[in-house]
Amino acid sequence: MNLIVAVDENWAIGKGGDQLIYISTDLKHFKELTTGHPVILGRKTLATFPGGRPLKNRRNLILSATAGYEVEGAEVFPDVDSLLSAAPQDAFVIGGESVYRALLDRCDTAYVTKIHAAFPADRYFPDLDAHPDWALWEEGAPLEEKGVVFHYATYKRK
Ligand SMILES: NC(=O)c1ccc[n+]([C@@H]2O[C@H](COP(=O)([O-])OP(=O)(O)OC[C@H]3O[C@@H](n4cnc5c(N)ncnc54)[C@H](OP(=O)(O)O)[C@@H]3O)[C@@H](O)[C@H]2O)c1
Repeated sequence: MNLIVAVDENWAIGKGGDQLIYISTDLKHFKELTTGHPVILGRKTLATFPGGRPLKNRRNLILSATAGYEVEGAEVFPDVDSLLSAAPQDAFVIGGESVYRALLDRCDTAYVTKIHAAFPADRYFPDLDAHPDWALWEEGAPLEEKGVVFHYATYKRK
């Protein structure tokens, strides 16, 4: 499986239940990579989407152990094992922190948007530069949007 994440210089990914920053170029990049593929996400990340609705043109697989929790247009799984038995290999894990940590070992490719800034944060992604199982495979040139500099990096499982 794949994962896709946007991190700051400290591998921070969120604060107060929301993203650190919205970069429209990166959102387009996210859409291009994930459209047509299943996405795997936690209940709290779904709540950050407009209207709390699943992403269009993608099968949405939601992890939640909350009894009776259902989402129109999405499939809900109460644990990792049941989710994995339904998730195809071309799925993208799209967060948040708890779901990335639960499924990192099941992923082979990580598409990381690295934002050249540090934000106050309360949610983090594991530092892949320091991770024994992962190596940087490809790195793009710096891009800029409204004064925010970022670049795309791809990591592969060793
Ligand atoms: N920068 C990025 O690329 C990026 C991407 C996505 C999200 N984020 C940020 O990450 C933050 C959210 O992360 P988070 O860790 O708080 O929440 P989350 O991972 O989105 O969702 C957590 C919820 O998912 C369910 N869950 C997780 N693991 C489970 C398991 N093994 N079995 C059953 N259910 C499981 C639980 O739902 P129940 O409580 O219903 O059981 C849990 O409360 C937000 O700030 C968001 O903006 C950032």
